[in-house]
Amino acid sequence: MQDSVPAAIPAHVGIIMDGNGRWAKNRGLVRTQGHLEGLKTAKKIVKAASDLGIRFLTLYAFSTENWKRAADEVGFIMDLVKQYLRAEFDFSKKNKIRTRFTGDFSGLPPDIQKEISDSVADTAGFEGMQVVLAINYGGRDEIIRAFRKLSQAKENGESFGEKDLSLYLDNPDIPDPDLIIRTAGEYRTSNFLLWEGAYSELYFSGKMWPDWEKEDLQAAIADFQKRDRRFGGVK
Ligand code: IPE
Ligand code: IPE
Ligand code: MG
Repeated sequence: MQDSVPAAIPAHVGIIMDGNGRWAKNRGLVRTQGHLEGLKTAKKIVKAASDLGIRFLTLYAFSTENWKRAADEVGFIMDLVKQYLRAEFDFSKKNKIRTRFTGDFSGLPPDIQKEISDSVADTAGFEGMQVVLAINYGGRDEIIRAFRKLSQAKENGESFGEKDLSLYLDNPDIPDPDLIIRTAGEYRTSNFLLWEGAYSELYFSGKMWPDWEKEDLQAAIADFQKRDRRFGGVK
């Protein structure tokens, strides 16, 4: 019975796109060159994910901890985000891809804020895949921001639970990620989707992000389809 059911495509996939710097270093290039190449990969994987029927794709582009890096690297990444959002509108329109955002928006430079708001507004009516850009994102930061909003909404002493808090996360309408992928051989989440990823299946790839291809995404999904998700229960 089970075998005749077609294997399900995960509704929501999150990707920790790691290894841009090492990819560049391995080729004797500067780190920023790796980010440029990583952006090309991101575009390719967005298209591949959309073609595969993934509904939500969260891309971890910049963490709340990444400000520790050199100012020129940070500036370069911010410029790439801007470029991506500007240049991809035609592509988004053609593929009905909607842009969403997660992270501490107020902590971003005003020009990036504008670019993000414009892209989110311009694509709001598109009904294809939703790409959630995690920029200035930290899982702990998202939880604490949600907690602050929740405590303002509640009367002193009023009780609340997990469901109440989850309503104040950045995108409460988006289902938790089924699958979280990390590239470049690191086995950690680095503050990505801490709350939402509680029961996500994890997949680690040794390949640097700029080397990722559609086939790598397909392999991750095929692996996901073999997992037995129990959510703490017994089958
Ligand atoms: C991921 O690649 C991109 C960002 C974190 C912005 P890295 O820049 O972390 O690349 P490595 O891990 O140094 O190779
Ligand atoms: C995680 O990668 C953040 C992003 C991919 C945006 P990092 O390279 O910043 O993580 P660490 O430092 O290896 O944990
Ligand atoms: Mg890294």
